[in-house]
Amino acid sequence: MSKTAKLDLGENQIELPIIEGTEGEKAIDISKLRGTTGFITYDNGLGNTGACLSDITFISGEKGILKHRGYLIEDLCKNSSFLETSFLVVNGELPNADQLNRFKTAIKEGSKIPEGVKNIIKSFPQDAHPMGITSAAMVALSGFYPQFLDQDLSADQKTQIIPLLMGQLKTICAAVYRHGQGKDFIDSDSSLDYTADFLYMMTGEKPNEDIAKALDVLLILHADHEQNCSASTVRVVGSSKANLFASLSAGIDALWGPLHGGANQAVLEMLAAIQNDGGGYEKFIAKAKDKEDPFRLMGFGHRVYKNFDPRAKVIKSYCDEVLEKLNVNDPLLDIAKGLETTALNDEYFAARKLFPNVDFYSGIIYKALGIPTNMFTVMFALGRQPGWMAQWKEMIESPAMRITRPRQVYQGKTSETF
Ligand code: ACO
Repeated sequence: MSKTAKLDLGENQIELPIIEGTEGEKAIDISKLRGTTGFITYDNGLGNTGACLSDITFISGEKGILKHRGYLIEDLCKNSSFLETSFLVVNGELPNADQLNRFKTAIKEGSKIPEGVKNIIKSFPQDAHPMGITSAAMVALSGFYPQFLDQDLSADQKTQIIPLLMGQLKTICAAVYRHGQGKDFIDSDSSLDYTADFLYMMTGEKPNEDIAKALDVLLILHADHEQNCSASTVRVVGSSKANLFASLSAGIDALWGPLHGGANQAVLEMLAAIQNDGGGYEKFIAKAKDKEDPFRLMGFGHRVYKNFDPRAKVIKSYCDEVLEKLNVNDPLLDIAKGLETTALNDEYFAARKLFPNVDFYSGIIYKALGIPTNMFTVMFALGRQPGWMAQWKEMIESPAMRITRPRQVYQGKTSETF
């Protein structure tokens, strides 16, 4: 017999079904709560709310584990490419050679962006933030691919639009970078792999293998992260049956914020500020602990991880390796390591279980690869796109899909107030 939880509300007692996940998580299904008792639940920031059932990604915040479709992130970084991981995240299985070939070909064929989208990118001021341009370019694609605006896409259309948008976003991100540099755009080179092609379109030079590999691992690390702020945004927008272009554009906007993907830019700005201040990070730790000061240690803390973010571990070990291969000696890395050690030994951070997250070290690698700071969050978006599309696909294919429409507890004036 399935388990239930008993809720005693005085005159109302109700038994609520318990749902168990395959990795042992437990949830109380409250979908009948309001209809039966008149009560709703209140969960500020939705930290205790499971908004969907999902097969894509599993995170154990307590143990510091991240798995996509059952595969550990560490193994995917070691043994797969970004495109293989993307295929896995979106389709549920790693591709065989033929599937991977077809996926790659479809992405390559989708890598040429419409002239109109190029013009939209060019119409932005050169110093506009790349995330704003990327989001605008993504939603602009809706005007150029009207065949994908149907409310209910066929299986074939879904198979087409996912690699198409992986190709389009790669070219858009590179063009956004070129625009910021005041340079002409470069067309995709179909002889190159995904990440190498992206770097080629950014720089005009075919990258060396180590650089392309380093970036490929960074993209894998960002591929999906279950119901984070941007993935939830993609689901919320998609739940109204808005098209995928609009849903992804909204996801890009949500990612931009410094408490989410924008943290990678904020970390590097923080490390540079510490360097300019003479390198003493203790002052910044004290600021982060001061409740009167809005400053937070960027790249530290996570809603789900109450232990090391496994992605941060991979990136940290990669950081030394990449910097050595590129022959880069970055003093910001020493500041980051010192800051991390000091924070981890500080009672404030220990008590709140605040550990470095994925953004803490990623910026140092991006910087070593020659990517400007304001492009960091765009790199995150490029990596996260398969996850957003997997979340959207899973949602629209679920028979349980309904529009997302939370409730509230009204606390404003009533007619009796007057
Ligand atoms: N520096 C200092 N104190 C912090 C930090 C931090 N980075 N993060 C959390 N805290 C403190 C809070 O002040 C709070 O203290 P209190 O209990 O004394 O009030 C406690 O830790 C809990 O923090 P919340 O804000 O309630 O945690 P929440 O889960 O809502 O926020 C978040 C998570 C947004 C990631 C937060 O830790 C943060 O702001 N970190 C810095 C920004 C960052 O790195 N974001 C990237 C996240 S990873 C990603 O999105 C890819």
